[in-house]
Amino acid sequence: MKKSYGFLMLVALALVLAACSGSDDAKGSSDGGEKSNTVEIFSWWTGAGEEAGLLALIDAFEKKYPEIKVENAAVAGGAGTNAKAVLATRMQGNDPPSTFQVHGGDELNEGWVAAGKMEPLNDLYEKNGWKDKFPEELIDLVSKDGKIYSVPVNIHRGNVIFYNKKVFEEHNIKEPTTLDEFFAAAEKLKEAGVTPMALGDKNSWPATQIFENTLLSVLGPDDYKKLFEGEIPWDDERVVKAAEKFGKILDYVNEDHSARNWQDSAQLVADGEAAMLNMGDWAKGYFSNDLKMKTNKDFGYFEFPGTKGEFAVITDTFGLPKGIENKKDVKKFLTFLGSTKAQDIFNPLKGSIPARTDADESKYDAYGKEAMKDFKDSRLVPSLAHGSAAAAGFLTKANQAVNIFVTQRDVDTFIKALKAASSEM
Ligand code: BGC
Repeated sequence: MKKSYGFLMLVALALVLAACSGSDDAKGSSDGGEKSNTVEIFSWWTGAGEEAGLLALIDAFEKKYPEIKVENAAVAGGAGTNAKAVLATRMQGNDPPSTFQVHGGDELNEGWVAAGKMEPLNDLYEKNGWKDKFPEELIDLVSKDGKIYSVPVNIHRGNVIFYNKKVFEEHNIKEPTTLDEFFAAAEKLKEAGVTPMALGDKNSWPATQIFENTLLSVLGPDDYKKLFEGEIPWDDERVVKAAEKFGKILDYVNEDHSARNWQDSAQLVADGEAAMLNMGDWAKGYFSNDLKMKTNKDFGYFEFPGTKGEFAVITDTFGLPKGIENKKDVKKFLTFLGSTKAQDIFNPLKGSIPARTDADESKYDAYGKEAMKDFKDSRLVPSLAHGSAAAAGFLTKANQAVNIFVTQRDVDTFIKALKAASSEM
């Protein structure tokens, strides 16, 4: 009798232990399964201008946690053109990466969170005291219904024009502050045989980004937001005006724009073949770290004309998908990502500013310092091209409409396509 009672106790204990080791938290370090101790980081940061920050981050994380293996699962393609499709297939097939790059705003909240695919991270924010360390508006961008779903590693600015200093000096061009001044400068450059504006819209998002900045310039920050909130229709006369101005900007781009990606277009500015580039400030990372150009010597920058005092926010964030095996290790990675140390390693290389407000300013050059100040003082608006302003369905259709507009230049068709797509915002 006694013996079999003891045996039953052992069986019960074994069952309890098995149940524990099957829990998400314990698995990463104890189950010895295929993915335990491996954190798979999924992003689109590959190659020039994109990879250096990620590699430095991974290196620092591996030094801190030598027992955790990192798998860099980056899929090439600016703005995530290819990565987002690969991610969608994996998420639908219940094969999520341990963590993945996702923009704060609709891409996260109306995408993966709404689909019930993400774990809330409020505990991580509490534990690390992050609620006072990230700006409230940024936490809002990664929250839905009071729950926080990701950790922002950076803030990029989208409404910047970078320019070749030498070209501006040679042709006596001043930084334009209005669209009219911009067109005057562009005309002067064109007459002198310089391509005024570099564009690489092999994938249409860089053109969409010019369009969104033109919208911001014409509508101003309040009505720009209202447009994406559905309070202003897409056939509003100011949207039509912005489309016309966008068309006019396209008169000044390089002929081979559709054959280039964003790095190739930045190269035109670096080589002095083109004068200006409207690109998020990942281009700053590319100019400084890859092309070794000096800030305010080789290249300068100004707000997209008519958008001074406004900041188009693009934030790269990482969250915790449901159903992954090694939650504990992934949380260690996310905790690291949210630290000032990690943010100050990553952002000076990436061209972005830290998402935290208490990072070490001395690690950033003049551009970074100014961007930090501007971020604090400006009206913040979400970017369409980078997934924050509208749901993915609308963005896909807006990119298609932009792509057609770039070749056909028919404002009417463009506006109609945008309006038809707006039910998907
Ligand atoms: C991301 C940046 C990236 C850029 C170009 C944006 O959507 O937020 O981190 O550098 O795309 O790929």
